[in-house]
Amino acid sequence: MGKISMALERAEKERKKRRRIRKYVAKTYDDSGINPRIVSYYDPNSYISEQYKLLRNNLLAYKYENPLQTIAICSSLRKEGKTTTAVNLAVTMAKVKGSEDKVLLVDADFYASRIAHLLHINSKQGLSDVLLGECDLMDAVVKTRIDNLWFLHSGKKIHNPISVLDSQKMDEAVRQMREEFDFIFFDTPPIIAINDITVLARQLDGFLMVIRSGKTAREIVDRSIGVLESTKTKTIGAVLTDNKYYIPDFIYKILGGSLSHYYYKSYYKRK
Ligand SMILES: Nc1ncnc2c1ncn2[C@@H]1O[C@H](COP(=O)(O)OP(=O)(O)OP(=O)(O)O)[C@@H](O)[C@H]1O
Ligand SMILES: [Mg+2]
Repeated sequence: MGKISMALERAEKERKKRRRIRKYVAKTYDDSGINPRIVSYYDPNSYISEQYKLLRNNLLAYKYENPLQTIAICSSLRKEGKTTTAVNLAVTMAKVKGSEDKVLLVDADFYASRIAHLLHINSKQGLSDVLLGECDLMDAVVKTRIDNLWFLHSGKKIHNPISVLDSQKMDEAVRQMREEFDFIFFDTPPIIAINDITVLARQLDGFLMVIRSGKTAREIVDRSIGVLESTKTKTIGAVLTDNKYYIPDFIYKILGGSLSHYYYKSYYKRK
């Protein structure tokens, strides 16, 4: 009897998990091979895509008063939603109506490189190859099937990414990116475990901190912000992912609140 109830409990948990995941994927697909997690590509008018547009608009507003061309998407730990946020944000930025702004998305997570898979791109070369002097930057950059969006893979596996990131070649590569593109988004590894961000920071105008709601402790976020601050690069804001709302949607709507799964607000202003 105990075993049966345990099995039922497990099945129920699995069902709830699947339902939760389905909530965050696009409802329509095409044959592009782009992953359904890229909701801003498939369902640009969906509620989730609207949250990415809000995030984009906040960045554009920030850009009026501050230099903002190179932006890293960071988080303290793994699986907080950095890559999903980076790709959806880059797609949303590339789709600004009437804008000719060119957007480059760089996979700078040498440990868990995932963007090529999400965008269904078969890149042979990438950032590490450029930094090792094995190819030119613009030969490694590939055009995606989304207008105004280009992609740079992390490249071949390297043992010590910091040593190649902390180099004149990297300075040159970023200088060239700045000349060629209007916005450059870097997907990065988690701050707490891996030091790459402190080196990458030299090249950046700002960080966007992704925080998984209900999972990452405030102390851990504070520690990461401390690491980012020590680099003297600005933390532009925070994106709260997987936020749970315990009040029914219709009450939020009546109150005019934002039922945001991708919630952007300055972390500092909130504190
Ligand atoms: N805003 C969100 N709300 C809910 N779930 C999300 C959100 N963004 C991403 N996820 C889910 O979280 C999981 C991890 O996402 P993702 O790969 O983007 O995280 P990551 O921080 O890049 O992880 P890693 O550090 O391993 O590279 C995925 O299953 C993804 O579908
Ligand atoms: Mg990732």
